[in-house]
Amino acid sequence: MEYKAIKLVKRPDIHITPDLFETVTLQTPDLQDGQFLLKQTHMSLDPAMKGWMMPDTESYIPPVGLGEVMRSSGVAEVVESRHEGFPVGSRVMGMIGWTEYALSSGEGLTVLPEGVPADAVLCVLALPGLTAYQGLMKMGNPRAGETLVVSGAAGSVGSMVGQIAKAEGLRVVGTAGTDEKCQWLKEELGFDEAINYKAPNLEEALATATPDGVDIYFENTGGPVQHATFNRMNTHGRILVCGMIADYNTATPSAGPSWLNIIRKRLTIQGFTMPDHWDKIPEMSQKMATYLMNGQIKYRAHTLHGLESAIEGINLLFTGGNTGKLMVEL
Ligand SMILES: NC(=O)c1ccc[n+]([C@@H]2O[C@H](COP(=O)([O-])OP(=O)(O)OC[C@H]3O[C@@H](n4cnc5c(N)ncnc54)[C@H](OP(=O)(O)O)[C@@H]3O)[C@@H](O)[C@H]2O)c1
Repeated sequence: MEYKAIKLVKRPDIHITPDLFETVTLQTPDLQDGQFLLKQTHMSLDPAMKGWMMPDTESYIPPVGLGEVMRSSGVAEVVESRHEGFPVGSRVMGMIGWTEYALSSGEGLTVLPEGVPADAVLCVLALPGLTAYQGLMKMGNPRAGETLVVSGAAGSVGSMVGQIAKAEGLRVVGTAGTDEKCQWLKEELGFDEAINYKAPNLEEALATATPDGVDIYFENTGGPVQHATFNRMNTHGRILVCGMIADYNTATPSAGPSWLNIIRKRLTIQGFTMPDHWDKIPEMSQKMATYLMNGQIKYRAHTLHGLESAIEGINLLFTGGNTGKLMVEL
């Protein structure tokens, strides 16, 4: 049977452009013992993919090789199997790539419970929820009554961070790039305040929204929100550095704030990436599933259709055009 896959054939200069990719038609392979064939149904698009396309060998994960199928996570169904642990009909999540079908021996795949919709998996139980849980709960040491600011709040990770923090009794302030996103954060997700960081007077709006200062800053973007929030940090505040998307498509990263405040306020600043924490996936997925079942977590997916929609669609992440977790339904 023929299927399509998309290979990375060129590295980005600054922006992700269609000429970086080549769509190829392949033939599904014959299975050996211990192998099975996956049909991918939903493919996740994430800002980190920009980094994976770059030649940087010093990063937390090796770059995608030129000529290789582009790396991504996704949800797939087993459609043929010679592996007892993965019978036909079982559903899995894992790194599957920009492809309609993939051969697997099961390495790195997690079998999904029956009945959980694919968008709930990619929004809550997979990378966004795990990242939010790891950063906030395992590293942020949150305490009820504290104030948390999260940037990129209407995005996949940010919306999970804010809702976990609300469930844990914190005051939650989010920043996002449109009034519609801010309205969703307050009215649908129950954030205490949401600020459009593109509107004038960001510093003033943040000060009004955080009358008791900021105890935890969950950083997804960098940019002006970083400076404004850094200046509002309380003594012994914690900053979790998850992402810096404002710097992903620029030739020169923006200047960070002066370190003086780190000493004055005895701040803890912690960067993290999820590949260091894959061993905790079952435990953290279970925690996220519990919030979901308790009605404490809502999610929204921004779904594109067809494998090749990924090529242009990934840029929605960098323009703010995605409203919810960006994914492709195949
Ligand atoms: N450390 C880890 O292991 C890990 C894991 C997952 C994700 N991340 C990071 O977490 C961050 C959020 O990822 P996500 O998957 O949740 O994406 P997302 O928030 O669903 O989508 C990206 C959003 O970033 C915002 N954005 C884009 N350019 C911006 C800019 N110049 N300044 C401020 N905001 C900008 C846009 O929202 P607005 O409309 O609000 O601008 C856009 O919708 C990214 O930095 C990502 O790299 C890190």
